[in-house]
Amino acid sequence: MKGLPAAVKIVEVGPRDGLQNEKEIIAPDIKVALINQLTAAGFQNIEAASFVSPKWVPQMATSTEVMEKITRKSGVVYSALVPNMQGLQAALAARADEVVIFGAASEAFSQKNINCSIAESIERFRVVAVAAKEQGLRLRGSISCAFGCPYQGAVSPDAVADVVARMQDLGCDEIDIADTIGVGTAAQVQQVFARVARDFPIARLAGHFHDTYGQALTNIYAALEVGVAIFHSSVAGLGGCPYAKGATGNVATEDVLYLLQGLGIQTGIDLPAVVDAGQFISRHLGRKAASRAGNAIAARRAD
Ligand code: HMG
Ligand code: MG
Repeated sequence: MKGLPAAVKIVEVGPRDGLQNEKEIIAPDIKVALINQLTAAGFQNIEAASFVSPKWVPQMATSTEVMEKITRKSGVVYSALVPNMQGLQAALAARADEVVIFGAASEAFSQKNINCSIAESIERFRVVAVAAKEQGLRLRGSISCAFGCPYQGAVSPDAVADVVARMQDLGCDEIDIADTIGVGTAAQVQQVFARVARDFPIARLAGHFHDTYGQALTNIYAALEVGVAIFHSSVAGLGGCPYAKGATGNVATEDVLYLLQGLGIQTGIDLPAVVDAGQFISRHLGRKAASRAGNAIAARRAD
């Protein structure tokens, strides 16, 4: 559509952001099967692992085994979250293509999630960033609670821009602006991206929306209007954050693909194959997928 990007990159975050919050430990082979299905569906970037303290996020303790067993496709970027050098070493050993340093635009959330202030987190990330670049890895920065915080409430666009500037200084190739608790609305999304894009190229900014208040697709459309062309989403709407009270799932990939298909925006991803992946993981979790489009397509097929 006129004025919107002709193509967008979707970063599939289901295997990490989506599954990290599941209470029951999921067998590594199930995670591997999911990642392989997502690879076959055509994603260029899959957030596959997280090398954090297993005491903080037990579900991610199998990340090394998962990364070892997946069938990689040339050109696909398999990302892993790393909070510190210990995480980076594990990500390197597991042959991650991209590491993600994850900070926050809210002081209170930074403390709850990674047990340090924003300034301390940046200093911790500095050595990680230098080492990652030396090893030829892609580096992504993730900024949680950019539209509101469950502990401190409002977060200003300037606070987001400040963390973007610090992550830019660390050499991040891409930075995602995350609405961890899904409270943002369309006008706010345009305001935050407009502010942040004054200092960092919009082509390397991503929108990471959660659907807690039912705003995620509208927020994606609002972000498209201001030129954002990278979005994160989670197959079957999996997700939540263990350190963000009330955070529900990420926006469902099937829903985002359905929206983009209708707008004629290219993604290179096979929607029916993503629906299959979403139904597969939902069957395994014993619940209905949290994707309206995914469930509608699956139901139509069953007729
Ligand atoms: P700490 O307790 O302050 O750190 O935790 P520490 O350095 O004192 O280490 C404590 C213990 O953790 C030690 O073990 C370390 O070895 C171990 P012990 O001696 O007690 O046996 N440890 C590690 N183990 C494995 N891998 C590591 C690692 N580092 C230390 N990398 C720390 C600080 C950052 C480690 C901790 O707070 C942590 O792991 N936090 C992770 C929280 C997390 O993963 N949250 C979810 C991801 S963020 C998110 O989901 C939001 C996002 O998706 C955006 C959105 O959705 O909006 C990005
Ligand atoms: Mg998320």
